[in-house]
Amino acid sequence: MKKSLMIGLMVAALVCAFALPSVIAGNAPAADMVLKAPDGKMKKTPVPFPHKKHEGLADCLVCHHKAADKNAIKGCASEGCHTDNSKAAKREATGFYQAWHNKKVKNSCMGCHKAEKKGPKGCKCHPKKK
Ligand code: HEC
Ligand code: HEC
Repeated sequence: MKKSLMIGLMVAALVCAFALPSVIAGNAPAADMVLKAPDGKMKKTPVPFPHKKHEGLADCLVCHHKAADKNAIKGCASEGCHTDNSKAAKREATGFYQAWHNKKVKNSCMGCHKAEKKGPKGCKCHPKKK
């Protein structure tokens, strides 16, 4: 085998070994998350969210309802989504608050827990302040 081909193959193997897992992991959600307001302003404490556990409870795109597919998932407070954390937008479907608290839709935390009669209700998702 030519020396240049050998080196080329070795470089390719190295790229695969190191770059590929990070590409795959790049879109892999963390098993456990802590949800906070994008501007850091919230009256209650940040909410622990066992993401992994929920993956078996609903299809990805039930919660990530604006994503075209599983590989195009972005955070809930992404541009054009639930960005507005102001008091005025608290009751708007596009408000940050409603993403988690809207009781009328099954893709919000409270809406699904209410519909399924499972999971924490009320303010229990927010741990007590220490
Ligand atoms: C029960 C609802 C729910 C289900 C089902 C769900 N997710 Fe999520 N996922 C969330 C929430 C909530 C977040 C946190 C979003 C945030 O911080 O704005 C999140 C975050 C993510 C993120 C990180 C997004 C970012 O850029 O911040 C990815 C990637 C993701 N989920 C992929 C998936 C995939 C893939 C599936 C299916 C196997 C899935 N999710 C199923 C609710 C869900
Ligand atoms: C599509 C439905 C659905 C949505 C949306 C959903 N959940 Fe749940 N969640 C469930 C179900 C069902 C359970 C009960 C699981 C069980 O008992 O095994 C649950 C359980 C939980 C639990 C308890 C886990 C445990 O270990 O006992 C927490 C905490 C939780 N959810 C937080 C959240 C938060 C925060 C959100 C919003 C970001 C959310 N959930 C959105 C369906 C949902």
